[in-house]
Amino acid sequence: MEKQQERRREAEPIIFERDTEETWLRLQEDREKRASLSHVAKDKDVPWKQNSQAYRKRYVQSGPKYRYTMGPIGSMTVSKQMLPPMGKGGKHRHYNEALLYVIEGEGFETHDGIKYPFETGDLVCVPTYCIHQHFNASSNWVSVFYCTPADFFDLLGIQSTEQIEMHPNYQVPETAQIIRGAQGQVIGYKEASGLEIRFGLDENKQILMDSKKATQFQGESKDNYDFYLRTLSDQTKWRQNAIRIIKSKERPWEETRMGRIKYLSHPNISTGLLLFDSFLQEIPPGGVSGKHRHVSEEVHYILEGRGYDIHDGKQWDWDTNDVVFIPVNTVHQHFNADPKKPARFISVQSRLYHYCGHGGFEHMEDAPK
Ligand SMILES: [Fe+2]
Ligand SMILES: [Fe+2]
Repeated sequence: MEKQQERRREAEPIIFERDTEETWLRLQEDREKRASLSHVAKDKDVPWKQNSQAYRKRYVQSGPKYRYTMGPIGSMTVSKQMLPPMGKGGKHRHYNEALLYVIEGEGFETHDGIKYPFETGDLVCVPTYCIHQHFNASSNWVSVFYCTPADFFDLLGIQSTEQIEMHPNYQVPETAQIIRGAQGQVIGYKEASGLEIRFGLDENKQILMDSKKATQFQGESKDNYDFYLRTLSDQTKWRQNAIRIIKSKERPWEETRMGRIKYLSHPNISTGLLLFDSFLQEIPPGGVSGKHRHVSEEVHYILEGRGYDIHDGKQWDWDTNDVVFIPVNTVHQHFNADPKKPARFISVQSRLYHYCGHGGFEHMEDAPK
């Protein structure tokens, strides 16, 4: 006791930190923002827009500026894009993976130069860091619902998009000066403020990724350090061989306690995705799903039908083509309001919660048999 008092007399003056209180206030602000937002994005209220990659509707945008401004969801971006007959999107690459569900149409992907055909109902897996582009191979429009864990990669310090080929309908801002490459192709633009935007592959990053790709671990790992040498090699191989297309017609329906569900991405299914779970759910005419709660956020795209969800006692109506947001820790149940037709939706959940030790479902009520 004496010694402690002695040390205290010699100690530096105490400087108070208010970081904990600042965090409380910021999280309170986040909760209030989430609580103020609708749990349903009505299809008619979300405009189509053109960007460098796609003609799309953006339901949840990434970046700190947009956090909890469009939907009460932070673990993923949420969008829908359309490809015109025989059209294509922009060619690009990003560190984060992407999940795409083909709502309608036939086309193909190119991932690092390899072609992967898709059709209505397929789940397209874009593994982390591959050059990809979406193509329509038919005389009808293709529509795709898609999600990325972009903000998470931002926090990890590896968020980036290299735009290698712009969308055919992309236009630089009217006031901008176009910058052209040696062959006359558009490689960027200069804004009136002097700010330059450059497109294309990041050559330094390419050198870095090529170096990683060329590293191969041979033999057995002998110690805990070798484990990580082997990991690099294993993950490169995994990325090259990852399954890109999950055919929903080849996946079985399961009569679960939550209702009739068909998992397309799940820890027990081998896919090119590591960070998303996804399933199709069908609710019979006038029917109801089970009731449950999970820490993870969940997003639904309504493929068919009309109905409503109850989230923590509050009703949210939905219709075909609407997007439903289920925020963290919400008790939820889905109801088909049509007495004659089934309702169908695709569900997407971030698997990051699971990896962080906050996975699993708390089941409250069974769906009727
Ligand atoms: Fe992408
Ligand atoms: Fe759920």
